[in-house]
Amino acid sequence: MPVITNIADLKRLHASRVPRMFYDYAESGSWTEQTFRENTSDFDQIRLRQRVAVDMTGRSTATQMIGQDVAMPVALAPVGLTGMQHADGEIKAARAAEAFGVPYTLSTMSINSIEDVAEATTKPFWFQLYTMKDTDYVSRLIQRAKDAKCSALVITLDLQILGQRHKDLKNGLSAPPKLTAKTLANLATKWTWGLGMLRAQRREFGNIVGHVDGISDASSLGAWTAEQFDPSLDWDKIAKLKEEWGGKVILKGILDAEDAKMALKVGADAIIVSNHGGRQLDGALSSIRALPSILEAVGDQVEVHLDSGIRSGQDVLKAVAMGAKGTYIGRAYIYGLGAMGQAGVTEALNVIHKELDTTMALCGEVNVANLGRQNLLVPQDFEGRWQD
Ligand SMILES: Cc1cc2nc3c(=O)[nH]c(=O)nc-3n(C[C@H](O)[C@H](O)[C@H](O)COP(=O)(O)O)c2cc1C
Repeated sequence: MPVITNIADLKRLHASRVPRMFYDYAESGSWTEQTFRENTSDFDQIRLRQRVAVDMTGRSTATQMIGQDVAMPVALAPVGLTGMQHADGEIKAARAAEAFGVPYTLSTMSINSIEDVAEATTKPFWFQLYTMKDTDYVSRLIQRAKDAKCSALVITLDLQILGQRHKDLKNGLSAPPKLTAKTLANLATKWTWGLGMLRAQRREFGNIVGHVDGISDASSLGAWTAEQFDPSLDWDKIAKLKEEWGGKVILKGILDAEDAKMALKVGADAIIVSNHGGRQLDGALSSIRALPSILEAVGDQVEVHLDSGIRSGQDVLKAVAMGAKGTYIGRAYIYGLGAMGQAGVTEALNVIHKELDTTMALCGEVNVANLGRQNLLVPQDFEGRWQD
């Protein structure tokens, strides 16, 4: 096994082992990719305060997210087509998360189905819901997540319509890949991936195929989204979904204080400050820059989580010290999965945990619960001074 020292090592392996179409699908943002880039570069602007001569024994990164014990304040974000990055990718990621003691969130647009993941794990995972025009199908999905004993419903609000990622169009992204000359030429260099896929439990959207009729092309993410996603989703519909679910609800994709207040009104248990990893509204603020205004608006009334741009334990520490109660990683674990399957996801979690623990210690803290603004140097005007 190659020596892995950071998430960038896993990303390099991912690029070399997974077909270009799926690597590009993960490693891109919408349009100019400004928000995608700033999600990471804005984390770099925040610096850490080094403290010394503090007893660093007995450190703990353990905490809670929505009342659930977690080994560190990091969950695995919902990622569509995870099972195309590695055979049975959702099962492998969920198992790695379970063994590590962090939550796994299964996407609606997964390859392994809700039932596949439930069967392969022993603890409850979270289910991410995209809302569709077909309300019967949505109700059936919610019921399936209940039957699988999912312990939270993560409703994604920032993808009523799909942002454009140029590479996905140029690559003809689909699951399974369509065998064009270009795809075949690339697949010929990814034998291990291909052999794994031949043995995979599934190669199509497991929550969709066989559960819904009348789809013209269920293999194409773009076609499915345009035809089926509900562009009329509003706060009333969100309140109804919450009622239908009846358990813990996390609202994902909040980037504005006014929307955070609406999320509070519908009774969300947590919100995720997120711009979908820079894949939707290009030109939107990075999540870490949007976080302070949202915390100011609702931080004392609802649990505020954050994703988009986290590539290290230092980033996790910065988000938590700014006031987030939890974070999510998307690409950071997908790189690991593409690189080495389940072991790679575990490796990504190990890397981030070690970085978080060491950074915390060198900042003079022994417990994640004590992290706060005292540990950070935040540039003046970090949030930006924008005209009204
Ligand atoms: C390849 C990919 C697929 C994604 N699919 C979904 C999805 O199906 N549902 C969803 O709510 N978010 C999805 N997201 C967004 C992630 O849940 C998360 O918000 C994002 O990855 C965080 O940014 P990061 O990748 O920089 O950590 C996806 C992200 C990526 C990279």
